[in-house]
This record gives sequence, structure tokens and C-alpha cells, in this order.
Amino acid sequence: MKTFTLTTAIDYANGSPHIGHAYEKVLSDVIARTRRMQGDEVYFLTGLDEHGQKVQMTARKQGIEPQAFCDQVAVEFRRLCEVLLISNSDFIRTTEPRHKDLVRSILQQLFDKGEIYQAEYSGYYSPRQEQFLQEKDKVNGEWPEIFGEVVEITEKNYFFKLSQYQDWLIDFLKQNEDFIVPRFRQKQVLEFLKEPLNDLCISRPKERLEWGIPLPFDEDYVTYVWFDALTNYISAPGYGTDDFEKRWPADYHVIGKDILLPPHSVYWPIMLHASGIELPKHLLVHGWWNISGAKMSKTLGNVVDPFELADKFGPDALRYFFMREMTVGQDSDFTQEQFLTRYDKELANDYGNLLSRLLNMGARYAEGKIPAATVDEQPEQDLRKLWEETHVLVLEKYEAFEFHRGLEQVFAFLRGCNQYLDIRSPWKLAKSDDSADQEKVLTTLAVIGEGLRLASVLLAPVLPSVTEKVQGLIGIEPATRFAGNLTWGESLAGKSLGEKTILFPKHTD
Ligand code: ME8
Ligand code: MG
Repeated sequence: MKTFTLTTAIDYANGSPHIGHAYEKVLSDVIARTRRMQGDEVYFLTGLDEHGQKVQMTARKQGIEPQAFCDQVAVEFRRLCEVLLISNSDFIRTTEPRHKDLVRSILQQLFDKGEIYQAEYSGYYSPRQEQFLQEKDKVNGEWPEIFGEVVEITEKNYFFKLSQYQDWLIDFLKQNEDFIVPRFRQKQVLEFLKEPLNDLCISRPKERLEWGIPLPFDEDYVTYVWFDALTNYISAPGYGTDDFEKRWPADYHVIGKDILLPPHSVYWPIMLHASGIELPKHLLVHGWWNISGAKMSKTLGNVVDPFELADKFGPDALRYFFMREMTVGQDSDFTQEQFLTRYDKELANDYGNLLSRLLNMGARYAEGKIPAATVDEQPEQDLRKLWEETHVLVLEKYEAFEFHRGLEQVFAFLRGCNQYLDIRSPWKLAKSDDSADQEKVLTTLAVIGEGLRLASVLLAPVLPSVTEKVQGLIGIEPATRFAGNLTWGESLAGKSLGEKTILFPKHTD
């Protein structure tokens, strides 16, 4: 059976992880966990993009070698994965031999086939930033101050024959309408392809940029940015080995909207096609997190630190916010208020409090065990009906990457459980001597236990550690599959309830 393969972008090593990086990993992880719960074997790749001008410059500023600098940054990005409970199968670093070797071998093959040629290149160059510039870098028709004096220079470089594949790419996109998800992005790519493509400059002379992968056919040059970075998607899964046969083509490359065009939608498909390698099945393109309406940037000083949030509220809360707040494909605003509202109203109140109520009443009325349900009247039937509608819908929403809608439904069900509890009010019934009332008390606890169990199965991909805890507290093992675990039953009768636990503690501010 072919593995379900998904990848994230590999993050630039020139800074610390921010919530954009964190979001992309969480989104991919939720997809990976959902697929595992559907029974798929999953290969899930993430990693770090370590070469290039900026990394070289940042390392120099710190007075260390680029490799030493990248080693430090890699520790941080790996820690991000651990802290956020990311279940990646591999973490590729572009400075690893397994990656560099493949980049060189792909380049050599393309060179041998005549797909790469040398030519003069001229362009605007900023010596201060050691960077080539384009017209689009101008602001109001002027080069911004940070570039210093901008000069036009000419140098020899290597080029990949991108332009000769333009018609092929247009045909491919027209025949594979769902290559890019969401679809409006594919339309943007076709729009872009109405203008003629230039060939792609893939090199920099070593005297200007050392921190890259030397070209196999000319060691005076290193390869430049995209040829290096994109190749991670095939170097890590082991191109040329049996593993690769199972793992490729990737089902989804998960990326942000800024790197769709042209790298992932033009360079990458053409690089693969020219190399005789199958294309990935889809690109899943997410939007951007803005901060209170503004673009997140170091200069504005509004960069949100995912470590801080995970530390304060727990990784599950941050994962939940990401998935509940953002419509995959669109931009979203990150505000502290909205984060706290979802934390308090949804996680702490609808979910956490329902569990607390069960644990408290279980201890008080049922000797710390989940009783059997013996009553089946309108309130029980209504809640069960709500569940029947909920779980079908939620799986559909997850399948369509509409996690925000899926979660909305699960939480509507949890609120339904809380309402059911209020309707039955076991704390009132418990005062009665009537044995029929006692039966209702016990049934209510059984129903709430079952509601929590079921909701936790659907929440598991998003809240992996919290749902595991909840399942432990109602006396069961964590569910690893949707199948067989989403049917309303009475499977919990006799299970021991755990100690009183606050799932989402009150925060102080
Ligand atoms: O582009 N909101 O690396 P990167 C959401 N190394 N996503 C965001 C974001 C934000 N505010 N900011 C960044 C690179 N991202 C290359 C990729 S892939 C072969 C090479 C996303 O660190 C961004 O869209 O700048 C991208 O998908 C990922 O974070 C890494 O961005
Ligand atoms: Mg970027």
C-alpha cells in the first residue's frame, strides 16, 4: 500500500520560529494524525532550509561559521516540533550529505541532458546587502535606504531552461484542475503563465555566495535558493531507494501563499518533469497570520512567539486556536483577545468544564465509576441524534480541510452535552428518594461519559495530549482509529473515573 505523504515548507534558518512556521506544522500534523486515524500509513516530512545569503550574513554578524549557526537554529526548530506535538517522520536539513548529494546528482543529470546552460546575467545589485534586486523591490520608484547604493552588474551564471516547459505546464494545470488547493490559487497560477516565463538562474559565483551547494559541473559556483530547497521533498524520502517508491509522489505539499508562485507552482513541477520524476498530487496553500491587522515582522516588533504561547496555555490550546480560527487558504488575524476568548469559552468551558462536572458527580453519586445507562427518554434521544449528525459532518469537514467548521460542530455537540446535563440536573434528582430519579442520575453520568469519549475521538488529531488525558480519566485507552470508535454505545459502564482535573487552567492576565 502506498504511504500517504505530506510535507511542509522547510523554514529559512535565518531567524527564530514564529507562529507562521508553527501554524504550518500544526496544520500538517492535524492532517497527518487524521489520516492515521483513518487507517493510512503516513510519511510526514518537515525541515530546515539552511543555505543562502541571509544565513551567511547573520552567521557572520554573530562571528560564527554558517554551519555552527545553522546547528543552533536547527535545535530551535526541532524543539518547536517537539513542543507542538508534531508527529513528523523525518526532519531534513539542507546541509546534510543525503540532501546535498541528491541536489548535485539532479543538477548533473539536467546538465548532461542540456537543460542547463551558462549565460551572462545582468541585474541591479546592492553591495551593502550583497543581494540582487528586482524592480519590485523599489518603493515609490526608488530603492529603499536599506540597500545603500544600488549598481547594475553583469556576471556569468547557470540557467535552467524553464521557458521551454511553459506550454507543458499550462496543459498540465488545465488537465489537473485540483492540483492546487484551494482552486482559486490555481487560477492565479494560470493567470501568471499568460506572460512568457524567463529561464531560471540557478547559480551564484562562489566569491559572492559561499554558503550553498557547489555545482557538480562547475565548482566555482553554488546553486541558488530554489534548486536546493525544493529538492528536499525528494532527498528526504530517499530518492532512488525502495522507500521512495512507497513515499512518492507526495499527496500534499503544504505551503504558505507567498511561496506558491513561482517556486512551487512553476519551478518545482518543471524541475520534476524535466528530471522524469512524477509530480506531487497536490499543493495545499494556506494563508497568512496577521497580527492585529498588520503584517508580522521583526521591524514592527510584533512577532508572536509560539514557544511562549505553548508554555503558558499548553500546546493543545495553541493547536486548537490555529485550527479553529483560520479557514485553510485564507488569511487570519491573530489577536490575544480572540485567543483568550476561545480558550475560556470553548476549551475551558465547553470541554474542560464538562469533564470536571462528570468527575465531580461521578465521585459523589456513583463511587467514582461510570454507571450503565438505563433510561432512554427525550433528552437522551435528542443528544444521541445530535451526535449522529455531528460525527458524519465533522469527518466530511476534516476531509475537505475545513477544520474550523469541523471543530465548530464538535464544540456544538459538547455544548449539547452541557445542556443535556442542565436539563437532567442530576444534582437535584439526587436529593429524591424515588428510585426512578436515581436511575436518571446514573444515566446522566453514563451519557456524559459517552459524550466526552466520542467528542475526544474527533478532537484527537487537534488536541492530542488533552484527549489522551480525557480518555485516561474516563478509564479507557486512547483511540487510534475513527472506525469503531464513533458509534454511540454503553461501552464505558464500570470504568473508573480519575481524580478531579482541570484541563485548561485559568490564566492570569
Ligand atoms: O519560504 N503566516 O521559508 P520561510 C502563515 N525556506 N504562514 C507563514 C507566515 C505567516 N505570517 N510567515 C511565513 C521559506 N509563513 C523557504 C521555503 S520550501 C522548499 C522553502 C510560512 O521560513 C511560509 O508561507 O520564509 C512558508 O510556507 C513557511 O512559513 C516557511 O517560510
Ligand atoms: Mg518567508
